[in-house]
Amino acid sequence: MTHSTIFAFSKHVGEEVTFRGWVYNLRSSGKIAFLQIRDGSGFAQAIVSETAVPAPVWESTQKLTIESSVELTGTVSKHPKKEEYELQVSGLTVLQIAQEYPIGKKEHGPDFLLNERHLWLRAGTQWAIQRVRNTIINATYEYLNKEGYIKIDAPVLTPTSCEDTTELFELNYFDEGKAYLTQSGQLYLEAAMFSHGRVFDFGPVFRAEKSKTRRHLTEFWMMDAEAAFVDYIGNMDIQEGLMKYIVAAVLERNVVELGVLERNVAPLQTAVTKPFVRITHAEAVEKLHVLGSDIAADDDLGADDETILTQQYDVPMFIMKYPAKVKAFYMKPDPEDSSRVLCSDLLAPEGYGEIIGGSQRIDDYDLLVRKMEEFNLPRAPFEWYLDLRKYGSVPHSGFGYGLERITAWITGTKHIRETIPFPRMINRITP
Ligand code: 4AD
Ligand code: MG
Repeated sequence: MTHSTIFAFSKHVGEEVTFRGWVYNLRSSGKIAFLQIRDGSGFAQAIVSETAVPAPVWESTQKLTIESSVELTGTVSKHPKKEEYELQVSGLTVLQIAQEYPIGKKEHGPDFLLNERHLWLRAGTQWAIQRVRNTIINATYEYLNKEGYIKIDAPVLTPTSCEDTTELFELNYFDEGKAYLTQSGQLYLEAAMFSHGRVFDFGPVFRAEKSKTRRHLTEFWMMDAEAAFVDYIGNMDIQEGLMKYIVAAVLERNVVELGVLERNVAPLQTAVTKPFVRITHAEAVEKLHVLGSDIAADDDLGADDETILTQQYDVPMFIMKYPAKVKAFYMKPDPEDSSRVLCSDLLAPEGYGEIIGGSQRIDDYDLLVRKMEEFNLPRAPFEWYLDLRKYGSVPHSGFGYGLERITAWITGTKHIRETIPFPRMINRITP
């Protein structure tokens, strides 16, 4: 008898194994009980036959409820056609008989499920989404380390904004006055870049955005990357390499999960093999007019604009050179048209929209001071950031991705609240 996990069943076909897990579903037809078992590593069906097991085992089986925890022993067999494994049970020990489980087999609305998030995480789709998210995290570290980046941890408590000042979570910080929860580690990464050349951070960031859309959380996970001697074109090349690596890793490592999610993998395969589209904001606006949008030439792209635009292409697309007035203060103006900046947003296909925001940064001290004045930013808390342009300033670029937005696209999940274990939105802070 070998201890195994469901994930490792393929190596034990025909053998007797023991493992522990939870009964996520069960049905009985007379003398046979079919138990759907989850053990963390995967899902399998365990078959208990009254005639094949000792009487006490059959009696225990009769007491089982959804989410009861069990230890099972039995012989592994493979489904004749699918990559699925079954267990012919010879022994069963009940660890706990679960009380009546609130999440039943019937359809539940999103509010009910979000209130039961601590239990909903056990559902097959939610299991699969978190495992894909885990692959995306690991693949990000792998790719960036391979490209010479080192991980630098940016602070969460900050004295300034990084992005839009209207979206800050504010708190009182002892005798120092106001502090804010970080919106992005970017400014700190720029400092560390002068020491290491290429750096990235990965952590929770906070936006007190009043947006109640399928793309917005108030707390989400961002990866910021920053590199010296890279312009806005090189910046897109790095992002494209990273995204292709991530998607390829998920396709390779999460076959079972993508199957559970019934994800059509064709668009993912295309994203790995085909170059991403790159167009300017001006070109995007032209296309949007043809598609029926009334976006103005100097407007930001709205969520609807992003949706209809990305439905035109089968790969992710970069939108370059947005109007300066809709982007952050630190973005370098386009030398050919100072009303625009050397930035790019990466939009995921299939209507998902923005997953990465990036730009070349202003490297000139005087210009950065002028831009900060235009944006009405206080000088004192940014002195350290201005210092970076006094001592060996260099051209540099970076970008930040939203982990939940990327996970939503890759898993084909409509609302990003399902891609984070415990979502925080303007109307939700529990569980
Ligand atoms: O475009 P954003 O605001 O860019 C920055 O914060 C830069 N400082 C990043 C950088 O250059 N280092 O945010 C980056 C990404 C977006 O593209 C989006 O994927 C995600 O973060 N994001 C959100 N995800 C969930 N909920 C929200 N409210 C989000 N706001 C942004
Ligand atoms: Mg953005």
